[in-house]
Amino acid sequence: MTDQLTAPSAERPGAAAPPSWWRDAVIYQIYPRSFADSDGDGIGDLPGIRGRLPYLRDLGVNAVWLSPFYASPQADAGYDVADYRTVDPMFGTLADARGLIGDAHDLGLRVIVDLVPNHSSDQHEWFRRALAEGPGSPMRARYHFRPGRGAGGELPPNDWPSIFGGPAWTRTTDPDGTPGDWYLHLFAPQQPDFNWDHPAVADEFRTILRFWLDLGVDGFRIDVAHGLVKAQGLPDLGATTEWHLLDVGVSPCFDRDGVHDIYRSWRRILDEYPGERIAVAEAWAPTLDRVANYVRPDELHQAFNFSYLGTAWEVAAQRRVIDESLEAMRRVGAPATWTLSNHDVVRHTTRLLQADEGDVAGRKPAEVDPVAGLRRARAATLLLLALPGSAYLYQGEELGLPEVVDLPPEVRQDPAFHRATGQDGYRDGCRVPIPWSGEQAPYGFGPAGGPSWLPQPESWARLSVAAQQGDPASTLELYRAALALRRADAALGAADNLRWCEAPEGLLVFERGSALRCTVNMTDRPIRIPRPGEALLTSGPVGLSEAEVEIPADTTVWWSV
Ligand code: NOJ
Repeated sequence: MTDQLTAPSAERPGAAAPPSWWRDAVIYQIYPRSFADSDGDGIGDLPGIRGRLPYLRDLGVNAVWLSPFYASPQADAGYDVADYRTVDPMFGTLADARGLIGDAHDLGLRVIVDLVPNHSSDQHEWFRRALAEGPGSPMRARYHFRPGRGAGGELPPNDWPSIFGGPAWTRTTDPDGTPGDWYLHLFAPQQPDFNWDHPAVADEFRTILRFWLDLGVDGFRIDVAHGLVKAQGLPDLGATTEWHLLDVGVSPCFDRDGVHDIYRSWRRILDEYPGERIAVAEAWAPTLDRVANYVRPDELHQAFNFSYLGTAWEVAAQRRVIDESLEAMRRVGAPATWTLSNHDVVRHTTRLLQADEGDVAGRKPAEVDPVAGLRRARAATLLLLALPGSAYLYQGEELGLPEVVDLPPEVRQDPAFHRATGQDGYRDGCRVPIPWSGEQAPYGFGPAGGPSWLPQPESWARLSVAAQQGDPASTLELYRAALALRRADAALGAADNLRWCEAPEGLLVFERGSALRCTVNMTDRPIRIPRPGEALLTSGPVGLSEAEVEIPADTTVWWSV
């Protein structure tokens, strides 16, 4: 495994860093508005995160990825950026960001920030000027403005739907008050898409990268990395395909080959900086081979593996996706990545028990049996952490938090909820603030008696960090133990050394190197096998004798063999 961080910060240029720290890194996603609230306004902030960094060091992760904390009207929880070089006052200041990066480095944690290059906020200075300066103005060329169709231009310029529901176009009003051109927004109307054919857009993002690299960040998570380049002429889709959040395949606006030139230019910038600064693509491409294109040696370092996230809890399907992931990444020399949860999908404690668990993004989830859900989630996590490559964890999964499925409509803030006539937009349920301690909401998320931007369930007192800490049966201690073993056991490192083993039906068994075996019972009944060796870690109680082991339903065991 990689060593602890030595000195990635820009303040210490040239300092030696361990080679390729990211190839097997465990990266923890912080959703800033829901992590820790230092000032009691009900919304998490950077000082709150800063105060909790020791918790993350003790958890044993290598890096954190922070969802956007930049100046934003929050039409899409910060994925609508008004100023890419400023911290939104709701989250703190640039000094807080600098302090957070410094503290994290001192604790041996790297820091990855989110970059949102597909679209800005409609409050971004460029877009405001584009609207004010009218048709034909230079600022309009930095976005996609077009006249409408129909006799009076009353129809959108093409048939593209917005991923958040409704058309991907909104009509403007000209400075003289008459209806004007339309502009493109693949997401909410408050998120106009940049025109990446315009050189000023490319230049701007290169300087934004440098701004944050100079501040000391260790990398970027690239939002909608597959969306920047659109087909020339913005042709109709010509189909009545319904787009759902992010699972759209190759189309006139997604996964176009032209995006790769952008990432090659970004890689050259990242490589200029010491300490291996990285970028990870959020690229919902249709096949793992197309995802691999984003992580060719001269492009980005990692790409999220959404194929894995969307795979059913079933031996053949899991084995196939693991093989295909490793094979696709091997072809380009990149590490595979593994994720079960993030801020856009139903938490895996709930999702893995749902019949349509492949439907991951934003659809309406239903309540599942919490005990069965947690059992399966713990088993899935131990499987994930035993795979070769880099793992992404989402805040709160280490507490076994379930999806909150019963948030009332009036508290929901996902913009898609209000646009998509109820089939999409259920992302608030995985964004409910973290319970840290205490018997009453906000459970230490903010000051006692204070608000939280989404209500936390009453049952979360027993899921808080304080309630789980030190209890060996808790999910928090399971994560800590797994991450400590992962760090200590060389077989669980970056090496591409997974080998499948013979196993009875319903049991997934593989070895990493020659000394570590992972057995996963993916059925709903116990499976008895000859005891493979010494049990290092189990996701739940197992029945062990000298010669045999009975692995209960939905249980994973790591063995030293
Ligand atoms: C992907 C982000 O993860 C999601 O939260 C956001 O709504 C869209 N991109 C648009 O930026």
